[in-house]
This record gives sequence, structure tokens and C-alpha cells, in this order.
Amino acid sequence: MKILMVCLGNICRSPLAEGILQAKLDIRKHQVDSAGTAAYHVGNPPDPRSIAVAYKHGIDIHAQKARQFTSNDFEYFDRIYVMDRSNYQNVIRLAANDQQKQKVALLRISEEVPDPYYGGDDGFEKVFQMIDQACSIVANQIQDE
Ligand code: 4NP
Repeated sequence: MKILMVCLGNICRSPLAEGILQAKLDIRKHQVDSAGTAAYHVGNPPDPRSIAVAYKHGIDIHAQKARQFTSNDFEYFDRIYVMDRSNYQNVIRLAANDQQKQKVALLRISEEVPDPYYGGDDGFEKVFQMIDQACSIVANQIQDE
């Protein structure tokens, strides 16, 4: 299975989702990547607060580099998980057909992972916990398939 995690900047939430889901899956069988709908941070490492909260929980994401989501991602990836409804709209807008649209879902079934960029460090811990719970569900689904 090939899974893509998407947020706005690809420096706070989706790098965490990439690292967390990788840690829950057999990476010889599955591939997990992340991207942002915006280009502001392309080429940059994750936000230091995301690197720190991941590290605290035993996950190393420092070597990731931000990239922008492209319409080619619809062809390569089997599933595309977005963090909030704004990401959902930005991704869906680039889909060529219904089959591509059906690959896209909110990571937390019907809730958002809020953007922690302008908040404090406790926001990153909350976001880590939300993503971690959602990724456990996703990993179980993938392993049961
Ligand atoms: P992310 O957070 O979408 O979780 O990576 C953001 C990072 C940067 C910006 C917005 C959101 N920004 O506007 O620069």
C-alpha cells in the first residue's frame, strides 16, 4: 500500500503523520510519504517543534524535506489522508476524476487535525496524540486487508 499524508505546509502535521504511520507499519511492504498543498516551505525540514515532539515519542523525522502535493500523486498513491477540510478542498480541486477523489479522506474520520503552527508547544503534543490515534486505526485497517 502507498499512503500519502497531506497538510498545508508539510512542515508540522503531515511530517508527523508520515513518521508515526511508518513506525506502525512494515515498511518493507508499505510506503508512506507526505506533502503540502502550499509551496512556502518546499525543501525545508519539519518545524523544530514537530521534530522535538516526535523525538520525545521515539520517532525521528528530522531528515524529511517538504514538498508540494501534485496531481501526479493521485496516480502513484493508493490513499491520500488530509489533516483538515481546507486541505481536503485543496487536494480535491486537483483530482481528474471520481476514482482519484475517492482516494482522499480526512485522517481522523470526521474530525480535523488542527494546524499547530501559530500555537505553543502543547499544541504539538495534542496534535501528536491525535495523529498517533488515527494512525493506529489506519495501520490496523491496512494490516487486515
Ligand atoms: P502544517 O502547518 O500545514 O501542519 O505544515 C503549517 C505550516 C506553515 C504554515 C501554515 C501551516 N505557513 O503558513 O507557513
